[in-house]
Amino acid sequence: MTPDGSLLVARDLRKSYGSTPALDGASFSVHPGEVVAVMGPSGSGKSTLLHCLAGIVTPDSGSVTYAGRELSGMSDAGRSALRRSDFGFVFQFGRLVPELTCVENVALPLRLNGVRRKAAERTALTWMERLEVESLAAERPGEISGGQGQRVAVARALASSPKVLFADEPTGALDSYNGERVMELLTEAARSARVAVVLVTHEARVAAYSDRDVTVRDGRAVDLEHAV
Ligand SMILES: Nc1ncnc2c1ncn2[C@@H]1O[C@H](COP(=O)(O)OP(=O)(O)O)[C@@H](O)[C@H]1O
Ligand SMILES: [Mg+2]
Repeated sequence: MTPDGSLLVARDLRKSYGSTPALDGASFSVHPGEVVAVMGPSGSGKSTLLHCLAGIVTPDSGSVTYAGRELSGMSDAGRSALRRSDFGFVFQFGRLVPELTCVENVALPLRLNGVRRKAAERTALTWMERLEVESLAAERPGEISGGQGQRVAVARALASSPKVLFADEPTGALDSYNGERVMELLTEAARSARVAVVLVTHEARVAAYSDRDVTVRDGRAVDLEHAV
């Protein structure tokens, strides 16, 4: 952790795709257990910021430090291992594995971390209960609704006890009722487990569930409360 208690800090990130600047000096930080909404119009660089924070995309310049370690100083394998052990992900469309049942989907990250099937599925079920989707354990993703699928995806992201949950437009494909339900359950579960949440959204009603908002405009994140 950094002296100010931040868990994940980005400083002055720049990233271009060809001649398109996606990030142009973006800075950001999140504390343990804090829910931060990253807002901004489409194309402003929100997803690129999230991918840099999670070590999926390497910025052209600037630094990302997680728990005191700079991501650019780690090997690809080291960053992958860190993502598996410390980070959870939820995307706009759940990206559940269609051939697996819901409980197998939620248990998958634990199985990949070497946890045995029975123990992994037990843990998976407790997270499914918290997200109120335990009754769907034996269903396959194709048999459930979009809102249910996102709750299963949140359960999967939290089941491996991450320190940071990255969510990119997690309610973007849902109607407002289901979107709010997913946000309520996601933030409740994350807060009770003290998981930091980086929540990318362009919807103000989704951002209302956060502790703090950061706005990205033209690749610059304006993080007023925690200037770094
Ligand atoms: N993989 C990519 N290849 C080329 N251009 C990209 C890629 N990812 C993002 N961009 C461009 O970078 C800018 C920021 O994109 P993005 O981070 O996806 O914004 P947002 O998530 O806010 O909609 C946009 O102009 C987008 O077209
Ligand atoms: Mg995006």
